[in-house]
Amino acid sequence: MDTFESYPVRDTYRLIEPGPTVLISTSDGDRDNLMTNAFNMPVRHDGILAVVVGTWDASFATLQKSRQCVIGVPGAELMQTTVEVGNCSGDDLDKWEHFGLTRVPGISVAAPLIGECVANIECKVEDDSLVEDYSLWLLRATAAWIRPGAELTSEFHHRGNGTFSTNGELHDLREHMTKWKYFSN
Ligand SMILES: Cc1cc2nc3c(=O)[nH]c(=O)nc-3n(C[C@H](O)[C@H](O)[C@H](O)COP(=O)(O)O)c2cc1C
Repeated sequence: MDTFESYPVRDTYRLIEPGPTVLISTSDGDRDNLMTNAFNMPVRHDGILAVVVGTWDASFATLQKSRQCVIGVPGAELMQTTVEVGNCSGDDLDKWEHFGLTRVPGISVAAPLIGECVANIECKVEDDSLVEDYSLWLLRATAAWIRPGAELTSEFHHRGNGTFSTNGELHDLREHMTKWKYFSN
């Protein structure tokens, strides 16, 4: 693949542990869609991740049917587009065309990777037992990609009220992660 280079699935928690606002790509085979998602988190260090996708999203039905998606991590240059993707429905327009985003084929899911994102995580539904009560989907990362040379600290964060922050200074406390050396390389 030219656009992206492979990223270890076991390290995908690092792509969303900082709490990025992400794009979720889904496909039902006939239609590809995109939504914005800020309620996401890593769950385990072996590629189990969680996202809230609710019945109010057209993406919900697609995720339910396909049981696959791609989590794309946009850099700050995509901030406004990301907000706008979250303010319209794939039932009304083709968001890929409308926002000029590039579909890049993945290797383990039908939903496209988002060419403009810094990182993309291909996922399959691992457990939907919390969906009915909490709209919470547990996903298993099946492949992951980063843009070569990309700045992995360029993600941005929704502060919950329509304001967003980018990252400030990076503080290196790896020497203090004494119990967690494995996670501090
Ligand atoms: C900043 C932002 C964060 C959002 N986070 C979530 C989220 O975590 N979960 C969710 O279900 N919807 C979230 N949304 C709403 C969906 O992105 C929105 O309902 C979107 O229109 C769904 O697109 P779809 O109907 O084409 O699937 C968010 C929207 C914005 C603008």
